[in-house]
Amino acid sequence: MVTVSAPGKLLLFGEHAVVYGHPCLVTAIDSRVSVSVEKTDSEGVQVESPQSTDTRFVDAAIAKSLTAWNVTARGLRLRTASDFTSSVGFGSSSAVTVAAIGALGEFFGKKIPLGEIFQLARQAIVDVQGGGSGFDVAAATWGGTLFYEKTMSKPEGIDGSSMPLVIGYTGVKADTMTLVQEVAKKKDADSQKVNRIFSAIAGLVTDAKAKIQEGDWERVGRLMDFNQEYLRDLGVSSEKLEALISAAKAAGAWGAKLSGAGGGDCMIAVVSAEIRLEVEQAIEASGGQVIHILPNAPGVRRDA
Ligand code: PMV
Repeated sequence: MVTVSAPGKLLLFGEHAVVYGHPCLVTAIDSRVSVSVEKTDSEGVQVESPQSTDTRFVDAAIAKSLTAWNVTARGLRLRTASDFTSSVGFGSSSAVTVAAIGALGEFFGKKIPLGEIFQLARQAIVDVQGGGSGFDVAAATWGGTLFYEKTMSKPEGIDGSSMPLVIGYTGVKADTMTLVQEVAKKKDADSQKVNRIFSAIAGLVTDAKAKIQEGDWERVGRLMDFNQEYLRDLGVSSEKLEALISAAKAAGAWGAKLSGAGGGDCMIAVVSAEIRLEVEQAIEASGGQVIHILPNAPGVRRDA
């Protein structure tokens, strides 16, 4: 039996603009999805995913990789296990797709380069859900903290290991594709305005990349506040996200923003060690759930 895992992600800066070719910053988190592959006596390929009824991503990962490698699979069982549920927006679809391709590669004794795992997973996900920038697939594949643009065949790694983040979950599951379509409609209606917002966000991403590398967390926080203003202008924030963001800020966070498509899922805040507890309590007091995770986790890897 072979087991391979891949990390979930948190989008730090640049959501939505990244769909239109601008850069974003994403970090892989220490919550992972693993896929085990083993031989069985039965004829077909079985997929067992005890924590989810949705096997579309694993099915697409199997189809894409077996076709690409020209192997016929008979008598295989793939089993998934996840540290987190799909409702928090940590990228369970991309992590399970990358882990499944990695596990199949190991099972068939192939040395699949990370760039190929990334491309196959990208295609599998596009087959299942349509668009998406692929930032989450990049995080699941390479891990660490990445400066990513969707035309890059390999994203640029930066050091985000000591980023002092607090994560607050709204309790609301966001539908990424709906929000991406809403932004697309807004762009059709007023392309000048939306393009201006995207360019401004791209500028913030470049600044944030430098400030993260310098460890200037106070400035990273300010840049998050600016990014949040643009996301608000795009119409993707929500009352609940705003409540958690304001609570974190009022408790002394250097800055805070939504993370991902918006509409729900999680917000993130940059905080100094001395006030972390106050910020966490403030988020909980306004109805959020604090999730303890660490950034900069390793990418896809064989665990067993
Ligand atoms: O909802 P999430 O966490 O997968 O983030 C979506 C980020 C978008 O930029 C809105 C879409 C994308 O694919 O980049």
